[in-house]
Amino acid sequence: MKVNLSTPILASDITPESVFQERRAVLAALGLAGSAAVMPAQASTPSGAELKAARNATYTVPEAVTRWEDVTSYNNFYEFGTDKSDPAAHSASLHTTPWSVSVTGEAERLGTLTLEDILKPHALEERTYRLRCVEAWSMVIPWVGFPLKDLVARFKPTSKAKYVSFTTLNDPKQMPGQRDRVLSWPYSEALTMAEAMHPLTLMAVGLYGRVLPNQNGAPLRLVVPWKYGFKSIKSIVGIHFTERMPHTTWNDANPGEYGFYANVNPSVDHPRWSQKTERRIGGGLFAPRVPTLPFNGYAAEVASLYAGLDLRRYY
Ligand code: MTE
Repeated sequence: MKVNLSTPILASDITPESVFQERRAVLAALGLAGSAAVMPAQASTPSGAELKAARNATYTVPEAVTRWEDVTSYNNFYEFGTDKSDPAAHSASLHTTPWSVSVTGEAERLGTLTLEDILKPHALEERTYRLRCVEAWSMVIPWVGFPLKDLVARFKPTSKAKYVSFTTLNDPKQMPGQRDRVLSWPYSEALTMAEAMHPLTLMAVGLYGRVLPNQNGAPLRLVVPWKYGFKSIKSIVGIHFTERMPHTTWNDANPGEYGFYANVNPSVDHPRWSQKTERRIGGGLFAPRVPTLPFNGYAAEVASLYAGLDLRRYY
């Protein structure tokens, strides 16, 4: 843990010693995240350090998972370029060890934590979620991570914390796409506190039982399965609690096209294309498109968060 924690969060405050020891193996695997990054981009079988994670059967979907090679070669990560193949081709320059995350704003426990500090108290689970990109393609991904709510609770947000925002690393040396001003860097995203505390919202550190490949947001990313994929911010280095709705990258770039809420909604078209259907990656060019479901199929779990909100206006 780094120095400027006024009220340090010690893992031993929260975690029994035996559990703490058991997780060392997991942390050791995550420590290899840097070398996982240099795997060949087109590897057809999962590669990278293995993670121990219990499958959480509550969070699964009936569809087949998207192949590893598709999940890791067709990406959006503009810090490495805007083509789908750029992140796999150019993200080996991202160094994920050591890694730290600063926690600021309306919370009692603030400071800078190493990745190890972040992870120690949390048991990892595997959950399979649909990921629906705003560009109308989708994947089904077996993530490894832990509920964001458990991490947020450790920081003890104050009653003023109405939103939590996240920022990605800003370092054009490691992230060559940041030399182009295609977006305003660092990439940032935010959730309401109710969204952040929802049990579906995941902090992911892996996929397919392995540490996250760099192109998928190593070493730590958000996964918010009922929202368009751009809310699922990658390679997080900052967490900020705030009273006012924060600025977010895509909303700033084009508020008419990318709303703050960004809940998947087949009945509200993007101004330039329909959101009624989606293309499942890996099905081939001629595979039939699949209907997009309200809240990406998670309406039963999350629709109540938006009771009374006009979802056409607050898209
Ligand atoms: N996070 C950062 N920092 N930069 C990005 O460009 N793209 C988003 C999201 N997170 C993005 C990001 C978009 S648009 C999508 S669809 C998902 O990442 C894609 O995640 P995947 O490449 O792991 O499938």
